[in-house]
Amino acid sequence: MRYTLMHISDLHAGRPFNPDVAVQVAREAHDIRPDLLVISGDFVQRADFVHQWQVITTFLKQLPEPRLMIPGNHDVPLFHFFDRLFRPLRRYKRYISSDINPVFERPGLAVVGGNTAYGWTVDGGYVNPQQCTILEQIFNCYSDDVCKVAVLHHHVLNPPGCEGRHKIRNADEVVRLFDRCNVELLLCGHIHVSYVGTTLDVRPDMQQGTIICQSGTTTSHRGKGREQGQNSYNLIEIADRVIRIEQRLYLEDVKHFIPVSEHVFPRRSAHMYVVPPEERIIKTDI
Ligand SMILES: [Fe+2]
Ligand SMILES: [Fe+2]
Repeated sequence: MRYTLMHISDLHAGRPFNPDVAVQVAREAHDIRPDLLVISGDFVQRADFVHQWQVITTFLKQLPEPRLMIPGNHDVPLFHFFDRLFRPLRRYKRYISSDINPVFERPGLAVVGGNTAYGWTVDGGYVNPQQCTILEQIFNCYSDDVCKVAVLHHHVLNPPGCEGRHKIRNADEVVRLFDRCNVELLLCGHIHVSYVGTTLDVRPDMQQGTIICQSGTTTSHRGKGREQGQNSYNLIEIADRVIRIEQRLYLEDVKHFIPVSEHVFPRRSAHMYVVPPEERIIKTDI
């Protein structure tokens, strides 16, 4: 098996949106023709404004399918208090998708989205008990030789240089849930900085851990930290024996995204515990 996932995030239609970069993202998405396009939230800058939803739905029409999408904190209204508290995802459900636990299934692969955005928090994320139960039930439907991938908007750990950002409030619980369910890979966004790591960075006592693949903002001016003002997305290849993650960064000089790093992990669910020599980037005799 070999699947390609294109992972974009934090589009932020509205004032921060860069339409020129968005056109290039659509062009590259059609060139790549991924088996699945994942969009991990923050479709708009301010969910209160209908115009921003119209801009983003116009953009989405230019992207290939199939897609798996989940909401971010910016997809919840800020100023409309009634909506914010009692129906925070009304506009997301109307303009993007009514499904906040989307599932994408192919032989040997299950990608499952979850919601971390609620009306009572402005920036921070949370996986509420109901979401935890739903995610665990869905993941447990698949045998452990299936490559299980979770998609959330908020991140579960702050990478170096991003200390103090609002990650998932119950991150420890969620990280343990993923480990228990043998979730092999987590795709997320929110802090507008690309990062590849593992949940073992925060819970070294776990057996397997989950690979973390975080995307920066793909189409907005709100890049942070070392990606200040920059745009990025990830290309993920899930193969029989390895998971390969390529981070791509938009280069203004050439006006397209270029690969800036590549990470290769053995496929734990395929009982691979070392990267096979032929899959290694750095060739050694070991
Ligand atoms: Fe964002
Ligand atoms: Fe966010």
